[in-house]
Amino acid sequence: LAASLDDRYGRRHTYLRISLTERCSLRCTYCMPADGVSLTDARRLLSAEELLRLAALFVRAGVDKIRLTGGEPTVRPDLAAVVGALDGLRPLGLRQIAMTTNGVALSRLLPSLHAAGLDKLNLSLDTLQRGRFLELTRRDALPKVLRAVDAALALGYTPLKLNCVVMRGVNEHEVDAFAALARARPIDVRFIEFMPFDDNDWSDSKLVPSAELLAALSQRQPGLRRLRTDAHDVARTYSWPGAEGSVSFISSMTEPFCGGCNRLRLTADGSLKVCLFGGSEISLRDAMREGASDAQLLSLVSSALGRKHARHAGLASPHDIARTKNRPMTTIGG
Ligand code: GTP
Ligand code: 5AD
Ligand code: SF4
Repeated sequence: LAASLDDRYGRRHTYLRISLTERCSLRCTYCMPADGVSLTDARRLLSAEELLRLAALFVRAGVDKIRLTGGEPTVRPDLAAVVGALDGLRPLGLRQIAMTTNGVALSRLLPSLHAAGLDKLNLSLDTLQRGRFLELTRRDALPKVLRAVDAALALGYTPLKLNCVVMRGVNEHEVDAFAALARARPIDVRFIEFMPFDDNDWSDSKLVPSAELLAALSQRQPGLRRLRTDAHDVARTYSWPGAEGSVSFISSMTEPFCGGCNRLRLTADGSLKVCLFGGSEISLRDAMREGASDAQLLSLVSSALGRKHARHAGLASPHDIARTKNRPMTTIGG
């Protein structure tokens, strides 16, 4: 069964990212168009039953890690119940339940998610300055997110990954402040290259290449050493002797990591994306609603994987990615 999640480059897809909702409690400029996204009609979103049927199917086919994303996953009222239901898939082979969140509602919810079986947590945080947070996200929520960081560390979610999308002229000068956080606490700060999605106003000039950031950081704070990471990791990780945490670089644009890609994505409206980029999707929702069996669903997945490109959906450059119709990031979930 597991072979059905292989592609023609021999990549085995064992990591499923499920977008639980298109809604978000923030309005980050790099993720969502200024006037918001038009939300999919509720009847066209997967029901919890449909979602769990697909999750179980993927786990039986070889997926061992599921990450919940959004929009913002904590906006979903039945989040803890979804985590609990996924926890029930462990006997089928699921080993890790993870979530990427903006942290706004997290400090209150985390104990119940932890109890339901959430293993790993990544938090998005692009600035440590309150005014800039407000500009970037159009919400004044930095204190809440910082409380979420504390709550996550207190509950043992360590090392805690903090995702920081670096944009030139916006937050590039905060790298040292983030590095200080990584030195003092068991936090892995991940500096992410800005990627193009529909309506996110991407441009080359806003992209800060990881190599440039790393060079600048090593010069100002010498002693960085590369740490070992897993073959499927999207990040390159470094630390200083004696530091509590680490800094990582996610260089999707300048040094793609597609050779180790093990990721599949399921959108809130039930489409499968075999790559983050490009517009190619298949609707598992429609197939299910037309009565497809598990075997038929799996064969749709396999044939989509059979068409997966070696890298970046077959698009040659960031500009080609930017020009190709995809979705807004907020409805993909990263
Ligand atoms: P871990 O499981 O902790 O390694 O998390 P992750 O990096 O897989 O997920 P997360 O949601 O924290 O994503 C961090 C950044 O990596 C985001 O900017 C994602 O968009 C990006 N990312 C994750 N998976 C892929 C991928 O398959 N391709 C590309 N190009 N970027 C990815
Ligand atoms: N480029 C790079 N990373 C992005 N994210 C959202 N939009 C972009 C983008 N345009 C990140 C968020 C979140 C993760 C799921 O994806 O910061 O942490
Ligand atoms: Fe995989 Fe596509 Fe991301 Fe490359 S860009 S790592 S192929 S999802």
